[in-house]
Amino acid sequence: MSKKLFIKTYGCQMNVYDSARMADVLAPLGYGLTGAPEAADMTILNTCHIREKAAEKVFSELGRLRAIKRERETDGKDCVIAVAGCVAQAEGAEIMRRAPWVDMVFGPQTYHRLPEMVARATRAAVGNGRSPVLDTDFPAEAKFDHLPEETAPRGPSAFLTVQEGCDKFCTFCVVPYTRGAEFSRPLADVRAEAERLVAAGAREITLLGQNVNAYHGAARTGGTAGLGALVRALDGIAGLDRIRYTTSHPRDMDDELIAAHGEVAALMPYIHLPVQSGSDRILEAMNRGHTAERYLAIIERLRAARPDIAVSSDFIVGFPGERERDFEATLSLVRTVGYAQAYSFKYSARPGTPAAALEDQIPETEKAARLAALQDLLNAQQADFNAATVGRSLPVLFERAGTRPGQLVGRSPYMQAVHVEDADARIGAVAEVTITQGHANSLAGELAPSAAPINQRTADLREGARTVAPGGVCA
Ligand code: SAH
Ligand code: SF4
Ligand code: F3S
Repeated sequence: MSKKLFIKTYGCQMNVYDSARMADVLAPLGYGLTGAPEAADMTILNTCHIREKAAEKVFSELGRLRAIKRERETDGKDCVIAVAGCVAQAEGAEIMRRAPWVDMVFGPQTYHRLPEMVARATRAAVGNGRSPVLDTDFPAEAKFDHLPEETAPRGPSAFLTVQEGCDKFCTFCVVPYTRGAEFSRPLADVRAEAERLVAAGAREITLLGQNVNAYHGAARTGGTAGLGALVRALDGIAGLDRIRYTTSHPRDMDDELIAAHGEVAALMPYIHLPVQSGSDRILEAMNRGHTAERYLAIIERLRAARPDIAVSSDFIVGFPGERERDFEATLSLVRTVGYAQAYSFKYSARPGTPAAALEDQIPETEKAARLAALQDLLNAQQADFNAATVGRSLPVLFERAGTRPGQLVGRSPYMQAVHVEDADARIGAVAEVTITQGHANSLAGELAPSAAPINQRTADLREGARTVAPGGVCA
């Protein structure tokens, strides 16, 4: 590759997937990835608009890139600066105004048009004058039909976007405005991409969507398939040991998907199901479309299907009008569920969202106090969950080298990071590990003496899952 590309990714897993896809689009133009912005002929910031802090980071990074661009251009080298992702979509014109050294600004639905945009933006280099590009359309044609097949290597755990966009319009959230209307890819396209990812070395695939369980892709036989059917359609791919999905919405949790958790051994016993708040009053003001009771009922049904399922969530504290008793209801819900892990945030007013215009915004100090109390409880639950796995033997998918020589880091079925010494370069393999220590955010373990054969074991378990009662399998 003759040119160097640096991509910095912010935000959610879908941005990670999109960054890899942008690299695929740019590879035929001669761009190969580098880890150093100083060495890059093109830098793309793939941005996130979800909270104010996330969006602010982009402008400080653009300041740093300006200095690099000056230096490179003084030396007669290219330095195209691009802003992609959700800040680009939401604040495209503002970026051009505040950072006029940016060459390209383009939203998440335009990545397949990158070659044309690059051609326009780089004309400056051949003396035709600088021609900055702003593309934040939601094009009528489907992006996925125009993206090339994946070329960049994928690791043992790969992301695959199956659904994008959101029609739910929670009153705090920018995503419906930055990602556009909900769209599902046809099942056959997803299956074909999954097969390519497995052929390229993936052992685990995480199906992505802003509302992944709203998936309703065109089925092969006509009509549409839900996420449960998609999971079953991927289950047969040889070499695919693990399937995960994120992020799901309580409103879209249907019986078919819940049943899949009991019957498909490759579907990992972990679910990220954000509840945001435990107060029905606040849930209504958020336009979440479910109550605390309905959420708890879903968790019960999931646990009936798969008793050991680990549950995760997102929480927002300090939504406008949140009273102490609303916050108490959130703590109470957390105690009832018992989370394996969770993410929690202070409410951040986002321009253009209905909640930003509400009176009764909660003072920062109050938000901070509630967040600290919630995180204390969630951290204690996570530590308990981790401690409860000590002494167990768990299959671990090794994903990367650890910090110490010979150490590898992998994931348990429950998404816990597991550190193993002397793991004998098994990256990309699933092996049995005896868990020896449970920490706040991770586990330590030792390879079980009978760890091989490696991937056969998960295949056997999967075969067994078809013959034993739902819920009876522990991957
Ligand atoms: N589609 C997912 C959430 C995507 S955004 C869902 O429906 O659950 C990821 C998380 O960011 C949200 O779950 C929410 O907890 C948080 N978030 C979104 N907007 C926010 C805001 N304005 N302030 C604080 N946190 C926010
Ligand atoms: Fe945002 Fe709500 Fe859509 Fe999730 S469901 S992406 S929180 S609007
Ligand atoms: Fe952020 Fe956009 Fe993802 S706002 S969380 S990058 S969908």
